[in-house]
Formats: sequence, C-alpha cells, structure tokens
Amino acid sequence: MRFLIRVFIIIVSFGFISILWFIRRHTPLIQDNLSIKDEGADSPVTFDTLLHVQLLKKKTLRSFCSKRSKINQLPHTQQEASQTLSSIAVNNKFNFLYCKAPGTGVEGWEQLLEMLMEKEDVTLQMPVHYHQQFGTSKALSEYNVTSMEAMLKSYTKVIFIRDPFQRLIYAYMHGLAEGLNFEEFIQYILDGQSRNANAEWTPLVSLCHPCIVQYDYIVMFGFLGSEVRHLMLQTGFPESIQIPEFIDSKVRWTYSWLEEQMFNELSLVQRKQLCHFFRFDFAAFRFPHSLLWDLTCISESS
Ligand SMILES: *[C@@H]1O[C@H](CO)[C@@H](O)[C@H](O)[C@H]1NC(C)=O
Ligand SMILES: *[C@@H]1O[C@H](CO)[C@@H](O)[C@H](O)[C@H]1NC(C)=O
Repeated sequence: MRFLIRVFIIIVSFGFISILWFIRRHTPLIQDNLSIKDEGADSPVTFDTLLHVQLLKKKTLRSFCSKRSKINQLPHTQQEASQTLSSIAVNNKFNFLYCKAPGTGVEGWEQLLEMLMEKEDVTLQMPVHYHQQFGTSKALSEYNVTSMEAMLKSYTKVIFIRDPFQRLIYAYMHGLAEGLNFEEFIQYILDGQSRNANAEWTPLVSLCHPCIVQYDYIVMFGFLGSEVRHLMLQTGFPESIQIPEFIDSKVRWTYSWLEEQMFNELSLVQRKQLCHFFRFDFAAFRFPHSLLWDLTCISESS
C-alpha cells in the first residue's frame, strides 16, 4: 500500500511539474517590460529591501568563511586552480562569473543571458573598469591563473542557492536514481559521499567555493524573478530590460508538499547524516522554511 501511495505521489508530482514546464515553454519567453510582481511575496519588494537582503546574506557568508573555512584563496598551481573552479562559468560579454549548480535556478539565468547575448543593442550603462579581452571560453577553469584572478576581481560573481533537501528531490526527480526509491537514493549518496560525487547533490560550498569566489550576488531559489531583476539593474542594465518570468516561486509551492512526503520516508539516522553532509551549506547560507533544518539539523547544531 505504501508503495502504491509513493508511486501515486511521484506520478502526480511529475505531472504537475511537466504541466508547469509545458506552460513555461509555450508562453512567450519575453513578457511586456516585466516588473517585480507575482513572486509569492505579500508586500511589494523594493530595491532597498533587495539590497538589504543581499547584504545580510553576504554577512552570514563572510562570517562562515572567517570561522569555518580553511581555504580562502585560489590555489597557485594551474591544475589545482582549474580543479577548484571547475563549476564556475564565464560570460565575457556582460562580465559575469556564476556557479553552475544544477536545479538552483541557474538554468533560467543561462537562458536569460543567451537571450541578451542575441540582442545586439543590450549594453551595460556603467563603464566596465577592467575591460580586457579574455577570449571566448565559457568555463573559468580553461583560463590561466593570471586571467582567472583578473576575472575574479573584476567580474560580477553570482551564486544561485537552494535548500539542500530540495536539491536532493530535484536530483531524484531528474532520473538520477533509476530503480531506486527515494530512501535508497539518499542512502546511496550517504554511503558513497565522495565516491558518488555529482554536481546535483554536492554541497554548494564544495561546488561553488564561496570563500574563494567572493560572490556579489546570492540568489535564492523561490525569489529568482525579483532578485535577478535587481541584480541586472545593479550591474548597469537599462531599466527597460525585459526578463523572462521565472517559475520557481510556483515550483517552490509544489515542492513544499512533496518535500514533506519524501522527508517522512527517511529514518532519523538518515536525516541526521544529511544534516552532517550539508552542514557547511546550512552554516554559509540561511535557507528559510527548510524542512531538514527546522525538523532535524537545528537540534543537532545547538
Ligand atoms: C594568460 O592568458 C592571457 C590571455 O590569453 C595571456 O595574455 C597571458 O599572457 C597568459 N599569462 C600567462 C602567465 O600565461
Ligand atoms: C516597454 O518599455 C519601452 C521602453 O522603455 C516603452 O517604450 C514601452 O512603452 C514599454 N511597454 C509597456 C507595455 O510598458
């Protein structure tokens, strides 16, 4: 019976998410001068509020880096530096560096950049201080250490973050666990840890190295629309910039229900092990309404 319930839940959620995806695919990507709206927030989000939120997130992160992180500088050898920064992508036209952590909203961001790249007339209003021609590679790891350091200093650096447990559900739903139920999938990750390392569930701190790459923007899943727009305006894009609608605030709503079902499938031991596995992510970023944190990790950390 439990098995049937589980199958039912998965089919229903897949259906729902496919519908959302379908709607997104089939609505025009570019809305009429999209302003900040429909982000699931009760009150309108102001520019100042968003700025304040960024400052708080960066403060939390800096405090984590000064207390808990051992490596705060880029390694000097080419091989080590490339390996460390292997998940960082480059956009040379708009001078962005961003971390490619799957399922965090970075996919929508890349779509937006692609769209802007195709528009000849979109240029930054503010002058770019260090405008050098770094070439065309899209992976930071393919540049030499000198160029990496120059880009880390001068480019706008963006990280997309999402609650660890939601990232696990995302990975599970994206077929990375063929033949395993959710509980077995989690056990597989916990047993393998470094052996089964995969960007889909590697902790963001290990994947994006936020103590080496001093991110200018920390964008939280569930708030992509308003945060990305704020980011674009702050980095000098014109006010009239058109950005596509992000569906993360709606997906977040579906997930909160799904999360509870999947959370209940795990044993207390597994939940505690997940807290340990993602302990640096929880310390570096605050995830509001995190089931894993609120129901398990918080009691461990005190
Ligand atoms: C690094 O790459 C840049 C750009 O391709 C080049 O101008 C520079 O000479 C390189 N530096 C070293 C130390 O190889
Ligand atoms: C969109 O922005 C452009 C340029 O700022 C303006 O001319 C146009 O009227 C705007 N359209 C709408 C629907 O607000």
